[in-house]
Formats: sequence, structure tokens, C-alpha cells
Amino acid sequence: MRYQIAPSLLAADFTRLGEELTRIADEADLLHLDLMDGHFVPTISFGPPVIAALRSRTALPFDCHLMVTNPADHLDTLRDAGADLVSVHIETVPDPTTFAASARAAGLRFGLVLAPGTPWYAVEPFVELSDLLVVMSAEPGAPGRSFVPEVLPKIELARKWVDSHGLATDIEVDGGITEATAGAARDAGANVFVAGASVFRSSDPQAAIRRLRDVIEGRG
Ligand code: DX5
Ligand code: ZN
Repeated sequence: MRYQIAPSLLAADFTRLGEELTRIADEADLLHLDLMDGHFVPTISFGPPVIAALRSRTALPFDCHLMVTNPADHLDTLRDAGADLVSVHIETVPDPTTFAASARAAGLRFGLVLAPGTPWYAVEPFVELSDLLVVMSAEPGAPGRSFVPEVLPKIELARKWVDSHGLATDIEVDGGITEATAGAARDAGANVFVAGASVFRSSDPQAAIRRLRDVIEGRG
């Protein structure tokens, strides 16, 4: 299994984003970017102009998590800003067929996200459209929230579905991932691990990523 770690910029110091990128550059596999519109979730985070500014500062693929009510409105600007992958919530796009096709046509990879309370069957018909399934393991809206272990069976269902259909779909877990919780998410079947507070709010983010990787790869 190929494991990847995606630090979430939402937990970084917003007064110095460029430097924050250099604090993870050598260890991260992806950069997770949480867009929030103040509607789907109460907070407004950042949007395509910030992403475009960051694009020139790192070669990491941009994994954009759209916590917005109308994600299709932002597809072109996100592509132009340098996004590589866009993930949308099944709660906002109950039939993502058209969005997935538009994302592909724009040259982007496509992901589908489930909030903690959303059952697996909501995304089942659309798994084959998706490069990535994101199982949220904390309530969306902010970094630093507690891991919700009740989502582990949903990760297991996702892994069973993907493997039994011979798919290469990545399974990402997002929310509350730390050295204490990453192992359970891996055991359930996740292979991409978003980590906000546990990376950016540590004194040495690169070392924090290495420790997470040790846990995920069974050396911790
Ligand atoms: C929150 C975001 C997450 C968050 C992760 O709704 O989707 O990506 O920033 O941060 P941690 O790992 O601190 O929960
Ligand atoms: Zn996220």
C-alpha cells in the first residue's frame, strides 16, 4: 500500500504561509487546502487567490477540499490557481456525475467527501467516478477537532468496496489525525492521511510528519 501524508494548511500560521510551506516541504506528499465559504460551514477560510500565490512556492500537488455550497462555481478558478485535485461533499452535490466530468475536462482529479454523519451508501454509486474518497473523521469547519472513531467502519466499507472492485481509488481520512489515531485509520483501510494541527502546530512539522509516517508504516 502506498501511504501519503497531506498536511492541512488550515492549521498553519496565516501570517507567514510561504515559510510554513518550507517547514513541510521535504516530508509532505500533498498539500491539503480547505476552502470554506461561510455557508456550507460557518467559517470562511481562503480561496483561489491564496492558492495561486502558493503555487509558485511549492511543487507539492494541491489537494483541494471544497467545503462550499456551490463547488461548480469555483472549478475554473481553482484550475487556473493551480489545483491538482478537487474534492466535493456528497452533501452538497448529491449526484456528482456532471461535476466529476467537468473536473476531468479541466484536467483535475476528482474526489468525493463524506461528512462524519453521512453513510457510506450515499457515495457508493459514484465510487468509480472518483480518484479519491475522503472520509471525514471530525466535524468539518476547523482544524484541531477530535477524531470520531465511529467513522472507522465507514473507512472499512470504503476499502472493501475499492478492493473488491479492483479499483485504485485512494481513501483519505481527514480530521483529528495524530500519532494516536493514524494507526486505527490505517488499519481500517485509509491510505492518505490529512493532518492539520498535529503537523503545523508542532514545533518541528517535518519531524511530526516523519513520526506520523512511522506510525502509519508500522514503525511507531
Ligand atoms: C476541517 C478540515 C480539515 C482540517 C484538518 O474541516 O477539513 O482538513 O484542517 O485538521 P486536523 O488534522 O487538525 O483535524
Ligand atoms: Zn479538509
